[in-house]
Amino acid sequence: MSELRFPEGFRWGAATAAYQIEGAVRDDGRGPSIWDTFSRTPGKVHQGHTGDVACDHYHRYADDVALMAELGLRTYRFSVAWPRIQPDGTGPVNPRGLDFYDRLVDALLARGIDPLVTLYHWDLPQALEDRGGWTARETAEHFATYATVVHARLGDRVRTWTTLNEPWCSAYLGYGNGVHAPGVRDAGAAFTAVHHLLLGHGLAARALRAAGAETVGITLNTGDIRPADPDRAADAAAVRLVDGLQNRIFLDPLLRAAYPDDVLDHVARIVEPTFLRDGDEKLIAAPIDLLGVNYYSPTYVAGRPDGAGNEAYPGTDGAVEFLPPAGPLTDMGWMIEPAGLTRLLERLAADYPGVPLLVTENGAAYPDKTGSDPAGEIVDTDRIAYLDGHLRAAHEAIARGVDLRGYLVWSLLDNFEWAEGYRKRFGIVHVDYLTQRRTLKASARWYQEVISRNGL
Ligand code: FCB
Repeated sequence: MSELRFPEGFRWGAATAAYQIEGAVRDDGRGPSIWDTFSRTPGKVHQGHTGDVACDHYHRYADDVALMAELGLRTYRFSVAWPRIQPDGTGPVNPRGLDFYDRLVDALLARGIDPLVTLYHWDLPQALEDRGGWTARETAEHFATYATVVHARLGDRVRTWTTLNEPWCSAYLGYGNGVHAPGVRDAGAAFTAVHHLLLGHGLAARALRAAGAETVGITLNTGDIRPADPDRAADAAAVRLVDGLQNRIFLDPLLRAAYPDDVLDHVARIVEPTFLRDGDEKLIAAPIDLLGVNYYSPTYVAGRPDGAGNEAYPGTDGAVEFLPPAGPLTDMGWMIEPAGLTRLLERLAADYPGVPLLVTENGAAYPDKTGSDPAGEIVDTDRIAYLDGHLRAAHEAIARGVDLRGYLVWSLLDNFEWAEGYRKRFGIVHVDYLTQRRTLKASARWYQEVISRNGL
């Protein structure tokens, strides 16, 4: 294959999230989060796994940063656990929680790694959930306060701030189909949560900017939604509906200061949108400097009156059939289609111009059996092929004119994969959960080489 070079200054890195790697859930005054509660609820997470210990990154962060440096990472995207900073979600700040991120940021900077902070990667303080969580408007305001607190401590060193990670998951999986914490199954609550998450983003983005943050953004799991049959009008309608629920419901208020009419009509058939107040859309549309894109897999849909729909896309029953994934799948059962990343990036650049893009997550789970190689190394050829294909797809988007600033692999380490527990491994670094030993997989070596050559 031909050699590909990425633009000068392209941001290479890796991503993680607090609850998935930190462990230490009771250390230094951390309060409980909705994921502590959810993972302890029987039947919610594979084999009752919890984030209690995870990768013990809270205690091993210095070694993990050394690993990042060895790999040559230029950017590290991590999330701050709100319940470490404000154990009750509001009120008193816990300085020991801030101390941890302070140490982490310093360790990164000492190695020349640029910290990229995500303020919310799903671990809402349980005390706020007890007051309605994201279905309560106040949560949006509390989030902005929390953002200000974190910025006050780290803002002198952290240049890039993102507010939310994948509000689609927080809203639709948390309150729609109940597969994620807090495990609510209520379509109306899911849409209410969408709005309050967006509002929280807008208020936090404004507060961060006012406090002097250099780059402010948000990460979405925007989807590449495809028709089962490109020539069938009913399938095009299904694409429009699902695209509305996954993409435009977030992108339009964020970047065009208004929810799309067709999406509002759909929502109004499920819940009266009393949560939407005058002026909210303007607040949500606080200017951003960066749009984070998480992409793993495309979604194929057909329009069918008897379609089963999907609770994670409220109101799609009786309208949409989601096609089963086809072809070789990752260990998550997700289909592999790098071209979907090119299409998605091009579409974002065309429909929402003027915002630089950053792939904030992309990667694949594979079983990674040790012993696949005589030296005991993990030769994860499937993962390398996945990453290689998606980097080529990202490069293709750049070649077609998309302003893509960087690529962060999900994930640095094997970690707690939410409802799947520890059984799904996304890391380029293997974690032995009994010993906490880290071992570079072949994909880590491969990625190290990609970064050092700034290309493939
Ligand atoms: C994304 C999440 C991330 C991880 C990957 C596999 O939806 O943001 O935490 O679980 O999926």
